[in-house]
Amino acid sequence: MKILAIETSCDETSAAVVENGRKVLSNVTASQIEEHKLYGGVVPEIASRRHCEAIVGVCESALEQAEVSLGEIDAVAVTYAPGLIGALLVGVNFAKGIAIACKKPLIPVNHVRGHIASNYIVGGLKPPFLSLVVSGGHTSVIHVRDYTVFEEIGRTLDDAAGEAFDKAARALGFPYPGGMYIERESKIGNINAYKLPFPKTKNKYNFSFSGLKTAVINLIHNAKQKGEGFDASSSADLAASFQHTVCEILTSKAVSAAETTGAKTIALSGGVAANSYLREMLTQKCDENGYQLHFPPLEYCGDNAAMIGSQAYYEFLAGNIADSSLNATAAV
Ligand code: KG4
Ligand code: ZN
Repeated sequence: MKILAIETSCDETSAAVVENGRKVLSNVTASQIEEHKLYGGVVPEIASRRHCEAIVGVCESALEQAEVSLGEIDAVAVTYAPGLIGALLVGVNFAKGIAIACKKPLIPVNHVRGHIASNYIVGGLKPPFLSLVVSGGHTSVIHVRDYTVFEEIGRTLDDAAGEAFDKAARALGFPYPGGMYIERESKIGNINAYKLPFPKTKNKYNFSFSGLKTAVINLIHNAKQKGEGFDASSSADLAASFQHTVCEILTSKAVSAAETTGAKTIALSGGVAANSYLREMLTQKCDENGYQLHFPPLEYCGDNAAMIGSQAYYEFLAGNIADSSLNATAAV
């Protein structure tokens, strides 16, 4: 079964053709990051307008690279939630138009389920497993009992981990999105230079990153106020201490949630899954505790339509088909 999948939940216009949920025939993404960088974050209206401009070309390229015509596609899938509402609406309406015109089933896919499915593309992962989804908009531990049966064990109560990375990076003077700059800067920093708070939450599987982010901002602010400035070496030390603390929080909660659920496998996904320090720490923790670990190749960590096409196959098998009244939803 060949599915044309469309993803426009944030600042990437992406289309892919995926066969039977596992084989990516094409995955084409037009990124808007360079434009949003000018404003230090994603500007929702600009995002919607750029999706409108890019979506036809991106879908045409995805079909061309997969060497299939629209007539050979068996279904159209689209991210309908969660995300920026104006951005989601562009993808939803475009997918609806194709589905109606070509008389194909329309499959609605939740973006977070898509990130989880990014691990199906390479490595043969199958449920059940414990999923740690870490992106700019989400941080959750989810027990994936089956392809469409999910139990959320914990989630962030405030900022997502990627958002905290981006805000800490901004305070350190790096461009948006700052996660990768923190990773780069941390390589020359000392992880023990700054003692940062390890937030406590009532439900031990929930996350909270806003206190940690504020601690970083305050440290920089106070140093500047005292006229001490913040030199390159302090900046690298603070980046390294921050990254280490975030990764410790993510890793320890994922492993203890796996223990509780009885899952034998942990699967990391989302934009922050690109972070090599997190991958290494989780690999070590999983080795020590006897868990199998999966994470996606870098190209499937950030937002992409291939992961949507992968999850769409399982949604289709479960009978999750939308009609022409499908609408976008900003939150879940
Ligand atoms: O999954 P994604 O592309 O979009 C959302 O669904 O949010 O994730 C984007 C997030 C951004 O916050 C970005 O800074 C973060 O992923 N990110 C990283 C790295 N690469 C991307 N964070 C830490 N280290 C990285 N190497
Ligand atoms: Zn995402």
